[in-house]
Amino acid sequence: GAPVEVDITTLQPGEMRTVEWRGKPVWILKRTPEMIASLKKTDGKVADANSQRNPDEFTPPYCMNEARSIKPEILVAVGICTHLGCSPSSKFAPGPQPSLPDDWEGGFLCPCHGSTFDMAGRVFKNKPAPDNLQVPRHMYLSDTKLLIG
Ligand code: FES
Repeated sequence: GAPVEVDITTLQPGEMRTVEWRGKPVWILKRTPEMIASLKKTDGKVADANSQRNPDEFTPPYCMNEARSIKPEILVAVGICTHLGCSPSSKFAPGPQPSLPDDWEGGFLCPCHGSTFDMAGRVFKNKPAPDNLQVPRHMYLSDTKLLIG
């Protein structure tokens, strides 16, 4: 599949957009300062904080950091659970999210077998998903133009 160009000029803090790339949903989330700060708190609770597992497949080298991103505020991740491929829910996606419990703070929760992921798509410990959510290869063409793939 061809790379996908996305203009994120109008993406607001706390807003998530989904684009399609190679038939997969790719989330683009503009994290708020609070969301970025939350990563420090989840560092000790996630299974693979530095994305060392299967790095080439799930995390490009330039995203092997706490935020799993090029810019701390922008998360780009494939919205497919690394367990058996269900679609995790989030509070930030547009539309109703019926599978989210009221007390779920985020980031992402897979309704199929309960894997949870933090605001960088890092899977929490002792969950069935074996890997963090995939971060696809991407780059910035300008401050506000992303190229995915
Ligand atoms: Fe997501 Fe099993 S498919 S937890």
